[in-house]
Amino acid sequence: MEVVEAVVGVWGSGRVGVRISPSGTNYSMSDSNRVATFSYAVAGLNAFDLAYFHLMEPNEWGADTGLDAAYFRQIFKGALIVNGGYDRQKGDAIINSGKADLVSFGRLFLANPDLPTRFRLNAILNEPDSSTFYKGDEKGYTDYATLKLKPIA
Ligand SMILES: Cc1cc2nc3c(=O)[nH]c(=O)nc-3n(C[C@H](O)[C@H](O)[C@H](O)COP(=O)(O)O)c2cc1C
Repeated sequence: MEVVEAVVGVWGSGRVGVRISPSGTNYSMSDSNRVATFSYAVAGLNAFDLAYFHLMEPNEWGADTGLDAAYFRQIFKGALIVNGGYDRQKGDAIINSGKADLVSFGRLFLANPDLPTRFRLNAILNEPDSSTFYKGDEKGYTDYATLKLKPIA
């Protein structure tokens, strides 16, 4: 809360968002009571009128905590962005359900630099290569192919 207060003091609340991964287990992330800790923390964010709260939901990388969009929707009063295992179809579904306002894409955006175009066209997606995550050089970050679009006429 002190960090959020300090950052909001510099940039203004509308230009600050908070992102957390309350179900994350990478690099030994853990908490003795995730539900209590993160419910308290996210409720505290309501005092700041933030641009958004960005949540990584439980997915194959994290613990099955139940700390998902539906859970935090009851707590956080502002714009909720979710991610964690979404594709275009699942993204549309959660927005239509009203449980989230926006969806972000991690691995799919890494592997598909033209992801919005591919979604618009319902095109085939490149598969993310997990052996390149979190390490190395540009391989797996800037070398995925974009679609080769042919002009119609
Ligand atoms: C290579 C890589 C680096 C990431 N780095 C971070 C990071 O620094 N901080 C963070 O909160 N999440 C990080 N993430 C997690 C993503 O932001 C996202 O929550 C996760 O990939 C799940 O969403 P997805 O299923 O759309 O990929 C990273 C993910 C990948 C693949």
